[in-house]
Amino acid sequence: MPFCHILSKTKLDQIEIKLIFENMENTHKILIVDDELVELETLCDVVSSSGEIIASSSGIEALDIIQSEKPALVITDLVLKDEIDGLKILDFAREKIPDSSVILVTGHASVETALKAMKSGAYDYLVKPVDIRRLRAVVDKALELYRIARERTRLLEAVDGETQFQGMVGVSSSMYRVFKKIGAVAPTDSTVLILGESGTGKELVAEAIHNLSNRKGKLVKINCSAIPENLLESELFGYEKGAFTGASRKKQGKFELANNGTLFLDEIGDMPLQLQAKLLRTIESGEVEPLGAEQPIKIDVRIVTATNQNLEELMNRGKFRNDLYYRLRVFLIEIPPLRERTEDIPPLISYFLRKLSAKFGRDIKGISPKVLNAFLSYSWQGNIRQLRNALEEIAILSQSGILDELPSFIEQPDKIQLDGTMEQLEKQAIENALKKTGGNKTKAAKFLDIGLRTLYRKIEKYEIEI
Ligand SMILES: Nc1ncnc2c1ncn2[C@@H]1O[C@H](COP(=O)(O)OP(=O)(O)OP(=O)(O)O)[C@@H](O)[C@H]1O
Ligand SMILES: [Mg+2]
Repeated sequence: MPFCHILSKTKLDQIEIKLIFENMENTHKILIVDDELVELETLCDVVSSSGEIIASSSGIEALDIIQSEKPALVITDLVLKDEIDGLKILDFAREKIPDSSVILVTGHASVETALKAMKSGAYDYLVKPVDIRRLRAVVDKALELYRIARERTRLLEAVDGETQFQGMVGVSSSMYRVFKKIGAVAPTDSTVLILGESGTGKELVAEAIHNLSNRKGKLVKINCSAIPENLLESELFGYEKGAFTGASRKKQGKFELANNGTLFLDEIGDMPLQLQAKLLRTIESGEVEPLGAEQPIKIDVRIVTATNQNLEELMNRGKFRNDLYYRLRVFLIEIPPLRERTEDIPPLISYFLRKLSAKFGRDIKGISPKVLNAFLSYSWQGNIRQLRNALEEIAILSQSGILDELPSFIEQPDKIQLDGTMEQLEKQAIENALKKTGGNKTKAAKFLDIGLRTLYRKIEKYEIEI
């Protein structure tokens, strides 16, 4: 049972009162503000099981408490006798404790104000007399949101206060979910399948999983598509001396090298069927059988695989074994393509520009709004790798601190208006060509694929100013 003790109590009409309900299981602080003592106590009673309650009857004191205690949730009466009312408390809380929610309690007369307050960030409002069940439900939901927001902030602050998780930059909620999944699965021994388009960071995810695991062995990587089919088997499983002509000494396979560690099988979709069967056997038995070996070797290897192919489609085409698929996808991490999380683009740009500044020994401060806009609307088929390469390209092209060139694969928007007449189009094309060539007519004529004299004629005809 929670209990309550009154910390400070001045004159009743001033009603300076603080109640603290303690509950050992819930440690979230909940600030409740109401200048009607009876109502304050009722609210405290109802919410007491959800956390550690701090009660106040004064708006000014509430601001102090927000500043010093950083409560996870604030429940406040909208109208207070103080000059600091519920709306001021809301504004202050939005600024000081952005992860926390504010719930407003209001009489019928001020419902409209409460509705407006929702627009400026109040989580919800309740009309007096407060429906206890609804209050409890709203509080639970708000605290759940707080936990998620806190966790997100904590993860993002994990690496020197930056928007990074294990060397991965990301602020979008979809990447946050990826980070969270990595954190959850890493310390287990579960098999993980990482899916994502090319360049989305699958290898980085595999590295993060290994780094955050407690496995003492190494992370061993093998790219199933880069190794010829006939070599892949011996790379993975190894062989004994004399196992075949030319096997002049024993070779340890990647499985053995990854013993007590993690084996990352990249591009698993490209693994030949016959090897898929052997891989499944190895995973199921926990034993590896090098070619030519008399005895299988016991191994303890955590398997992480990745692909940018659609494995289900490969299964339908008979190119991937169903049983292996289900064995590998025990835990699935899907990395969304960059175009579906454009909010990650600006922090990624800052991150790569910092790296490029160091690489080139220059101070690259940023990119121009034109380039940023083009980047935000581009489709990035090659995802983060393509973004990184694009920045390197334009850093080389542009020597100033703010990069203002577009990479070669993003086309300059064409200024020709399609609703113009042929003559207008022609005039515009010539103007564009002259602009691109800096007014050099010989180059412009070449660019337009017309003779120099024709160009002169048209310049005169259209009265183009150079
Ligand atoms: N979230 C991220 N933050 C910073 N760098 C990233 C991020 N994601 C990917 N990168 C970088 O982008 C490049 C491509 O990442 P990675 O090689 O892990 O992608 P991939 O999904 O394995 O691609 P592929 O399918 O082509 O093998 C790497 O240089 C990596 O460091
Ligand atoms: Mg890769």
